[in-house]
Amino acid sequence: MQKLAIQGGNPLRGEVRISGAKNAALPIMCAGLLTADTLRLTNLPDLHDVGTMRKLLVQMGVSAEVATNEITFKGDQINNWEAPYEMVKTMRAAILVLGPLVARFGDAKVSLPGGCAIGSRPVDLHIKGLQAMGAEITIEHGYIHAKAKKLKGARIFFDIVSVTGTENLMMAAALAEGVTVLENAAREPEVIDLANCLRAMGAKIVGDGTDNITITGVEKLHGATHHIMPDRIESGTFLVAAAATGGSITLRETRADILDTVLEKLTEVGAKITVDGTSIHLEMSGRPKAVNVRTAPHPAFPTDMQAQFMALNCIAEGSAMVIETIFENRFMHVQELRRLGAQIDVEGNTSVVRGVAHLEGATVMATDLRASACLVIAGLVAQGETVIDRIYHLDRGYEHIESKLSQLGANIRRIK
Ligand code: EPZ
Repeated sequence: MQKLAIQGGNPLRGEVRISGAKNAALPIMCAGLLTADTLRLTNLPDLHDVGTMRKLLVQMGVSAEVATNEITFKGDQINNWEAPYEMVKTMRAAILVLGPLVARFGDAKVSLPGGCAIGSRPVDLHIKGLQAMGAEITIEHGYIHAKAKKLKGARIFFDIVSVTGTENLMMAAALAEGVTVLENAAREPEVIDLANCLRAMGAKIVGDGTDNITITGVEKLHGATHHIMPDRIESGTFLVAAAATGGSITLRETRADILDTVLEKLTEVGAKITVDGTSIHLEMSGRPKAVNVRTAPHPAFPTDMQAQFMALNCIAEGSAMVIETIFENRFMHVQELRRLGAQIDVEGNTSVVRGVAHLEGATVMATDLRASACLVIAGLVAQGETVIDRIYHLDRGYEHIESKLSQLGANIRRIK
C-alpha cells in the first residue's frame, strides 16, 4: 500500500498545468463503442481510471493506440459485449458502456456496479431510461442484461439529476430511431464535452448544458478527433490548496467559466482571483475566512469540491456549515480531519466546522478520491508531518499530484 508523506507549512507558489477532465474522459472513451471508425482523443489525463476504462474497452475488441495523454480507438472489431465484475467493481463509470453497447449492437451484459464509500450509487435511472427506449432488461447474478432490436427515441424524465445517467442515455439515443428528450437532465460541463464529441461524430444533439436535451437518432456515427476539456475539480483542488496555505499560484490550460461557484466561494474566503484566458491566478494573504457550502447539481456548488472546502474551513477564521445533498455518505473525511485536530460536528447531511488556529500532522487514511484530496490539503497546512495511507484513491483522479505539488513548493513524497 503506497503512502504520501507531507511536511506542512509551505505556501504553494508557482504555475501548474491542469490535466484533461477525468469525468469528461471516461464517458467520451465509451463513445468509441458507437462507431467502427477511429476516435482520436487528445488531452487525455494519465489516470488509473482512464487505464481501467481503456482495458475494459480493449477486452471488448476495441483497438487502442496509446500515446502520451492521447488515445486512438477503432471500434470495427468489437466482439464481446460484456463488462465483467472484476473491472466494474474498481470503477463504477464502467456503467457508461451500457448505453453505447445496446444502441450499436442491441446486446450488453454489464456487471451492476457495487456501492462505494460515498453512497449506494444505484443505476436505476440508467436502466429505466433504456427500458423507455425499448430495451428488454433483466438483472441476474449481479449483471444487467440488456437487449434491443433497435432502440426507439423516447421522452425520459429523471426523478433525480444524474450525470452518468444523462451521459449513458445521450449516447444510447444518438443511434436510436427517432427523437429522445431527456428532461431534468444533468447540466455539468462534462455532459457538454461529451455532446461536443458526439456531434463531431455526426450525432444530432441540442440543449446539452440545460436540463432539457433533445437527441435525434442517426443511422451511423463516424470517427472524429476530440480534445478533452480541462478538469474543473483538479483546478478547484489546487486553488483551495493555495488559499489554505496562503500561497500564490497560476493554473494554466484551464477554464474559469466552468468554476463560477468555486471561484465565488474562494473570493468569500478572502482570495484574490484574476482570470486571463485559459489561466486562473490566485493570491492569498492572511488567514482564510470560513465559508458555508451546500452541494447541488451544476451550476450550483459541486459535490466533488465539498471535502476540499471542508479542509479549508478547518483552519479558517470562524465557523461554517458544509451541507452535502448529493451523496448520503460523503463525510468520511471528517473522522480523519479530527485526527489532525479539526473541530467538526456532523448532524445528518450537515457538518459544522469550527476553524482552529492550526492542525497537527498525524497518520490518516484516504477513503475515497476527493476525501484523499482533502487530506492532502490538510497535510499541506498541518504542523509537522502527515502521512496519508491508501493513496490509490488519489491516483484514480489526480494526474501526478505529488510532482505537481512539489513544483509548487510543497514538501511531499510518496512512500512505497
Ligand atoms: C458523477 O457520478 C461523477 N462521476 C461523480 O464524480 C460526481 O460526484 C457525481 O456525478 C455528481 O456530480 C463521473 O462523472 C464518472 P449521479 P454519478 O448519477 O453520475 C443518485 C468523482 O469524485 N442516482 O449524478 O455516478 C445517486 O445515488 C466522482 O470524480 C440514483 O438514485 O452521480 C446520487 O445520489 C465521485 N439513481 C445522485 O443521484 C441513478 O440511476 C447523483 O448521482 C443514478 C444516480
